[in-house]
This record gives sequence, C-alpha cells and structure tokens, in this order.
Amino acid sequence: MKTLTVALPAHPYEIRIEEGAAARLGALIAAVWSARKVLIVSDSHVAPLYLAATQAQLEAAGFTTATSVIPAGEASKTLAGAQRVYADLVANGFSRSDGVVALGGGVVGDLAGFVASTFMRGLSYIQVPTSLLAQVDSSVGGKTALDFGAGKNVIGTFFQPDLVVIDPLQLKTLSQRNLVEGYGEVVKMAAMSSDPSFWKLLETIDSPAALLAHAGACSEYAIAAKAALVVADERDTGARRLLNFGHTLGHAAELLVPDTLHGEAVSMGMMAITRLCERHGLTAAGTADQIAGRLQAVGLPTNFPALTVPQLVDQIRLDKKVKADKVVLVTLAQLGEPRLHPVPLAALPEFLEG
Ligand SMILES: NC(=O)c1ccc[n+]([C@@H]2O[C@H](COP(=O)([O-])OP(=O)(O)OC[C@H]3O[C@@H](n4cnc5c(N)ncnc54)[C@H](O)[C@@H]3O)[C@@H](O)[C@H]2O)c1
Repeated sequence: MKTLTVALPAHPYEIRIEEGAAARLGALIAAVWSARKVLIVSDSHVAPLYLAATQAQLEAAGFTTATSVIPAGEASKTLAGAQRVYADLVANGFSRSDGVVALGGGVVGDLAGFVASTFMRGLSYIQVPTSLLAQVDSSVGGKTALDFGAGKNVIGTFFQPDLVVIDPLQLKTLSQRNLVEGYGEVVKMAAMSSDPSFWKLLETIDSPAALLAHAGACSEYAIAAKAALVVADERDTGARRLLNFGHTLGHAAELLVPDTLHGEAVSMGMMAITRLCERHGLTAAGTADQIAGRLQAVGLPTNFPALTVPQLVDQIRLDKKVKADKVVLVTLAQLGEPRLHPVPLAALPEFLEG
C-alpha cells in the first residue's frame, strides 16, 4: 500500500492508496479513530454499489454506523443538501466526538466535509473518494464547499480530513465520461510538475482503458504534488494558487456552457490559456500541443467554446479569486514551470484578445 502524508503541522494526515483498499477500510479507519458513531454520507449512484460493504467494514471494526444518501449530482451541493445531512446527524444522536465518512465523488466529499466542519463546530471526518476527480484531487487539501445561487463553491471552509483511503478498483463502475473528466486534473498536475517521470507516465496513457489501468499511479503522483502545495499554503494565498492552472477560463466555461463537467472545463481552460500565453510570448512554443496530445488521447475536449471576451470578463469578474481588481492567472513558462501571472481586470480584455 502506498502511503502519502499531508504534513500540515496542526493536522497531519495520511492518504492510503491501493487496489482493494476498500476491503480493508474498517482496519484502516480503526487505526486512526477510536470506536465512535460514524455517519457514512454517499450519493444515489455510489450507495447501491459500495454503501453496504462500507458499512459492514466499519461495523466489523467496532464502529456504530448510520447513513445519509443524497441525490447524485452537483445540485445536492447546496444548503438544502447540507440540511439533509445535518438532519440525519441529529436524528441519529450524533455528538462532537463522533465522525463522518464521505463515500463518493467530489460532490459528496465537498458536502460531507462542509457538514462535518460545521456540525457542533466540527466532527472528525474521513474521505473515501470513488471518482477519479476525487481520488486525484478533491479529497485532499481540506477545501469544503457548497454552491449558492448562481455561484459555485461560494460557501465553504478549510477543514482537513483525518485520513483519505483511495481504492482505484472502485473506478471500474464509474462512467467513461466521469473517468475521463478526472484526467483533466491529472494532466494539469503533470504539466506543472517538476518531476519528468509524471509526464512520462501520461505518455503511456493513450485511451480510457489505459487510464483506468494506471489510475492508482496517477493518484500517487497527483496527490503527492498537491499535498506539497497544500502544506506550503493551506489557505490558498500563495503557492497553492498554482492549482488554478486552467481554472480561471475553465470555470467561466463551466458556468456559461450547460452540461460541462469540471474536468472537461479545466481541459479546455488549460488549452485556452496556454495557447494565449504562447501568443503573448509567456509560454514556450509547442507547450500547448504537448498538453493537447495528452488530453486528446483519452477524448477530453481541447477547443474552447465560442464565448465572447465580454462574456468571459464578466464571468471572471465574479470569481472569488479576483482581488484588488486583479486576476492572478496561472501560466506555464514551459512544462514543469508554472508561474503566477497577475493581470489587472482593466487589461484583461486586451490580454484575452491575444
Ligand atoms: N474540494 C476540492 O478541492 C475540489 C477540487 C476539485 C473539484 N471539486 C468539486 O468536485 C465536484 C466534482 O467531483 P466529481 O467529478 O467526482 O463529481 P460527482 O461527485 O458528481 O461524481 C460524478 C458522478 O460519478 C458518480 N460516481 C462517483 N463515484 C462512482 C463510482 N465509483 N461508480 C459509479 N459512479 C460513481 C457520482 O454519483 C456522480 O454521478 C465539483 O462539485 C467540484 O466543485 C472540489
């Protein structure tokens, strides 16, 4: 079993990655938690597949369990979704010394993490991510979130889990579109990574089937890189902002184009910013083509949707990362060399026109 550590001084925790880890979940959790009541939060797609086995694992390890199943999909990541989970905690008599396990994709992880961080001012929680996006990215780093109104991730906390258990075998039941979507974040991490062996791994992934076969290795590289940035900058005011590569334009596409998944939007956003930066002389020529090759190998979209510059600027203006009328874009000098590139909002239209 591969073990990575997020070495935050106030709250260090481990990430355990292994095919078949779910079959040892009870023992893995009992190694970090004393006996307690545990609410397992899952969604309507994942629960029929993995909830009973997860519950049996925890019960066999001495935990008392209750469950909370939300409808699958982003629409559950709301105050109403949170209210449902709070109600299940109250109905089952949870106290501050109990815990929450998030069993699902990024939606379940963000929602369960938010509820755990706020119920009685904080219950301990553990992430068991089941989508590729959650395994390679969202389960680590402690950002919890709810959407509010038209805004994504408007409400949230920083709250670290006590453990993350990743079983790549659980990805076998994921739809191909959701599997491929998660790879957008993997390509992002590899494009920024100073470790050339990460990019070399990606060069062996030439289809969704190859991606599934190498998913565990993708998680190891991506999570190790993310953990280092989280330790350097837990609250996202410094180096962690590099994780936004592809996200400023990607978020705009995600919000403006219906039925765009997060990883698909990141894929298009990385391509758009890298092509623009090649034209501005900020990125080495040929970098965008290198990234496009990896994205297209699994069928991720690389052409940015037909949005106008005013549409993009209006959307970016609403981004919570815009401060003092400046947006900090993430660019690559070349593969493995990410840079923060602040652009005043007033200069953004000209920058985007290329
Ligand atoms: N907290 C963070 O740092 C962070 C980072 C990136 C993204 N996110 C958030 O993550 C969310 C996207 O995550 P996602 O792509 O996992 O979405 P998701 O949780 O909606 O999962 C995608 C779909 O796959 C299904 N699913 C998950 N695991 C499955 C499995 N093993 N077998 C079958 N079906 C399965 C889900 O039910 C859902 O229908 C967004 O809300 C995004 O904002 C958070």
